[in-house]
Amino acid sequence: MAEVANDQVVVVRADGCWIWDDTGRGYLDASAALWYCNVGHGRREIADAAWAQMKRVAAYHTFDVFANEPALDLAERLVELLPFGAESAVFFTNGGSDAVDSACKFARRYWRIQGRSERTTIIARSSAYHGMNGFGTSLAGIEANAAGWGALMPDVQFVPWDDLQALEDVLERDGDHVAAVIGEMVIGAGGVLPPPPGYWEGVRALCDTYDVLLIADEVVTGFGRLGHWFGSERYGIEPDLIVGAKGVTSGYAPLGFVAAGPKVRSAFWSLEAGALRHGYTYSGHPTACAVALENLAILERESIPQRVHDLEPTFAETLGALADHPLVEEVRCAGFLAGVGIAPDARAARPRLVDEIVRAARHEGLIVRNLVGHTLQISPPLTISTDEIRYIADRLLRALDSVVLDSQTAALSENGP
Ligand SMILES: Cc1ncc(COP(=O)(O)O)c(C=O)c1O
Repeated sequence: MAEVANDQVVVVRADGCWIWDDTGRGYLDASAALWYCNVGHGRREIADAAWAQMKRVAAYHTFDVFANEPALDLAERLVELLPFGAESAVFFTNGGSDAVDSACKFARRYWRIQGRSERTTIIARSSAYHGMNGFGTSLAGIEANAAGWGALMPDVQFVPWDDLQALEDVLERDGDHVAAVIGEMVIGAGGVLPPPPGYWEGVRALCDTYDVLLIADEVVTGFGRLGHWFGSERYGIEPDLIVGAKGVTSGYAPLGFVAAGPKVRSAFWSLEAGALRHGYTYSGHPTACAVALENLAILERESIPQRVHDLEPTFAETLGALADHPLVEEVRCAGFLAGVGIAPDARAARPRLVDEIVRAARHEGLIVRNLVGHTLQISPPLTISTDEIRYIADRLLRALDSVVLDSQTAALSENGP
């Protein structure tokens, strides 16, 4: 808190890929806020949809017998977009963290309904980010996010994020106690790490062999980010549960969900399942659901997932060129996600280097984020133009150069000319 006390950016306006602060400075929002503004800022039709819904029923709960039209319509629309077919179910949450918590609870409950209550373990991966609630913190492969809170959830196991053999070893040893494997289709906050070729097909096959549920955390990778409606589509797998948030509303209202395929859904619809004593005050919030419906209509009308698919080579080539800079180790891309990895030797020499680059980029009119101290996050609105993609590369290059220049000046003044 002390560090940002005199360094705030107070955002007062946003439009398309741009935001403006209270001094009138504009910045290209290359992070789409926190990875979520898929349709870009300032969409009047979403504000109109929220206003229209608020005038009818702004809020009502969905416990017990209660439902509302936007929640029902959104569930139906999501089922059309999801890979599961008609026999699936959608459970609404406030955002990604509670959707992760819900999915883990559902996975455990699923096995209990099957008479296998010993299956409680959730397997997560190194570098994983699954939000900040109880389960998400316990499943954090970013170690700093799990540290310092005292005892976390029991029955969690970790495997290296890219190692199928390690996953098989855990399943072989302890598979009878495993409820589910959870993973981001492309690791986001842990540094933008696309999976090795064949990884997800391999995970799906292992989950089938050991009869374990697969939870795809698509909070970042859903709704066009990887050139498909869902990242699991890109990698050719059908998970058992899908967790979504962010891009489902492009952030215009807080909303998340857990979607279940037929296998999990049918268990919960059986008489043995009993009551589902789980739900949130704002589950199925009508205004948030109306916002999501309008957002999904824009994504469809403007063929945004296809647009990302078509422009991915341009995006990767333009940003990939940054790898030639001496401060950059590599650029990792998938869809409209890029992680600019900063060279380890440069970071070792200057521990605050990535923060310095983020600040220098802001000075150049560009918002990027520091991920886990080694990578810059680039995840712009999916409506970004090719000129704006070039702007990101140009301004980031200038920021990198200015940081190099600063360090040369500092070395000169320390050591003399
Ligand atoms: C992969 C993933 N899962 C879950 C979450 C948590 O979502 P929220 O911040 O909406 O609770 C995030 C947030 O960044 C995320 O990136």
